Amino acid sequence: MITYDPKTRTFFLHGRSFSCALWVHPAGYLVGLHFGGSAGEDDLGYLDPSPRELSFSPIPPDVENYFSLDVAGSEYGSFGQGDFRTPSVLIAREDGMRASRFLYRSHEIYDGAPDLGALPAARGGKTLSIVLGDALSAAEIRLNYILYEDLDVLVRNAEIVNRGNSPMFLLRAYSFCLDLAAGEYDVLRLHGRHNMERTPERTPLGHGSVKIGSPRGASSHQMNPFLALLERETGEDRGVCIGFELLYSGSWTLEAEQSQIGSVRVSGGIGDLNFCWELKAGEKFVTPEVAICYSEEGLGGMSRGFADFLRGHVLPEKEVFKPRPVLINNWEATYFDFDREKLCAIADAAAPLGIDTFVLDDGWFGARNDDHTSLGDWSVNEKKLAGGLAPVIEHCKKRGLKFGLWFEPEMISEDSALYRAHPDWAVGRADAPRCKSRHQYVLDMTRQEVTDYLFARMSDILGGYEISYVKWDMNRHISEFYSAALPAERQGEFAHRYILGVYGLIRRLQAAFPSVFFEGCSGGGGRFDGGMLAFFPQFWTSDDTDAYERAKIQWGTSYGYPLSAMSCHVSSCPNHQTGRTVPFASRGAIASLGATGYELDLGRLSAEERTQVKEQIANYRAIEPLILRGDLYRISDPYRENRFCVAVVSKDKTRAYVVGMCVHAVAGDFDRRIRLKGLCAQKHYRVEESGLTLRGDTLMNVGLLLPRLPDFGSWVWHLQETS
Ligand code: DGJ
Repeated sequence: MITYDPKTRTFFLHGRSFSCALWVHPAGYLVGLHFGGSAGEDDLGYLDPSPRELSFSPIPPDVENYFSLDVAGSEYGSFGQGDFRTPSVLIAREDGMRASRFLYRSHEIYDGAPDLGALPAARGGKTLSIVLGDALSAAEIRLNYILYEDLDVLVRNAEIVNRGNSPMFLLRAYSFCLDLAAGEYDVLRLHGRHNMERTPERTPLGHGSVKIGSPRGASSHQMNPFLALLERETGEDRGVCIGFELLYSGSWTLEAEQSQIGSVRVSGGIGDLNFCWELKAGEKFVTPEVAICYSEEGLGGMSRGFADFLRGHVLPEKEVFKPRPVLINNWEATYFDFDREKLCAIADAAAPLGIDTFVLDDGWFGARNDDHTSLGDWSVNEKKLAGGLAPVIEHCKKRGLKFGLWFEPEMISEDSALYRAHPDWAVGRADAPRCKSRHQYVLDMTRQEVTDYLFARMSDILGGYEISYVKWDMNRHISEFYSAALPAERQGEFAHRYILGVYGLIRRLQAAFPSVFFEGCSGGGGRFDGGMLAFFPQFWTSDDTDAYERAKIQWGTSYGYPLSAMSCHVSSCPNHQTGRTVPFASRGAIASLGATGYELDLGRLSAEERTQVKEQIANYRAIEPLILRGDLYRISDPYRENRFCVAVVSKDKTRAYVVGMCVHAVAGDFDRRIRLKGLCAQKHYRVEESGLTLRGDTLMNVGLLLPRLPDFGSWVWHLQETS
């Protein structure tokens, strides 16, 4: 519910178990009074920060009594008027002045969410839109708050309009600012690197700032656009935490800052390093959305809140709850070394096992036999694939397999026909040496002719063959940050324009080929974010397919994202990334905790392993409704314990699927109990594997005995309510 009381000039936003109260100060300042647990619509005037006088905190010229922005809760931090915490926006006017004083102008409340144009955006909900005017410039700020009454998620963004007659420059344009009352918090972030994405790290906030982000032109493996504030006692199942997640895939920043009075400001959005956006008279700049999730049930509650929100309001509606393709991908089976016969042999082996889609990965186009060449030349390499793609697709079709294809649209190899024709289409200057990464350059996605070219080439392929699935990869980060097509004073717009170009191309292709299923990828999970997930219902979680490492990566990813968004494959052992050998059953168990698939030479499997594949796929299909819609409960943390264990419980609590993995076998560890979570205490459940029938509270408080397992051995339990 969203309300406004004109008498007290207070807005209230009530989610399922949180409330947010905003107050319009008599001079017009929009003051955040509360964000936290549910509250009544009382007159909160007693929270007016005015009487709290602090030395060294400037007072703006338009207030009668003492009032300083330095201590007031702000909804969009301003610069130069006494608030010394991090500002949300920095506007350079023609005269060079950058100070801003934002005052309330108007508001509206409407059903649904705002249209963000090119940016990915949350659907549904109810919106409060508050317009602030800058008393010191012609900027007008519109703050959008999208509320979902059945969730504990509030989505926010800001729009900046130049209402004047001359241009202004945005040196920073964050999406939001939230000031929380004084408290002691920890910060949780998800850091990593290639093959090690989304590793949780919890540290005390303390005074000053914790600023995280990616300046890489992509949301990145190195830091996920996610941050959570946790009260000190908050753990997995209990306590207050507030998660923040940007629906954005480009360079970004999130910042938590504890002020002199102990209050905590969280703000962020587009990364401001090298950012400068020219806003001409009448133009509007729209910032990406942030989803803020409030939980009183610890990190687990936050994760389930984000999962419900993303599935219900962000992931593509037409696919999010549908069974996913179970695929065989040839990458780890062949890398670049394949021909028609090899691919057909993989398809032959896949078809009888229950796999439904064959995905041809990198290496099918141009003259690409290794990663030095041909990106951008999106035509079939007929030398390698005699007769082109058609015979392979036909072969798959005859065996009942659909066909999927890999693209890396945003890249260009120096050794490519495209580069020889258009060296200026690569990011950077054609007349100066540029950085390479994986031997490739990045295409300038800010240019219409570049995205038109990609649309035409990809349309030829997608329209010319029966292709049901696309894997959209991106294998390097951006350097130079320079477009030959942008004037000097607009180069600071490059990174944001780049990602808008990417979103635009995906949108165009998806509109042209509505029946094609798109999966995202960026050298594994390098762009695993709410922006990409608005287009791709699933994303390749990591190039690290080692089941133990994957259990950790999927654990970290689950803090902010639903299981169904994680693409997870069974691969061969010794594992290509770590050299570790993990039992086949464990690889299947870990891969069943997401959109499952296979990435190995099926022809090399033993008869017993082939039977296991069949069983794994049958199991996946049986539990898929839980993966798509269920609630995740994290039970044993593989970063801290000698095991990994999670449970996925159906919304009606009639079914549960538990997956666990032991790290190292330990002698005599026979009294270890796994206490389940998320069940209905009074219901009785039958555990399929043991035949035991126990009450929910017994399963949750007494627990089940941990089975005896070898190194990296796993177990699964299927629980079904009995009457
Ligand atoms: C990186 C991806 O994450 C892999 O799965 C594979 O598609 C390679 N790129 C191909 O170059």
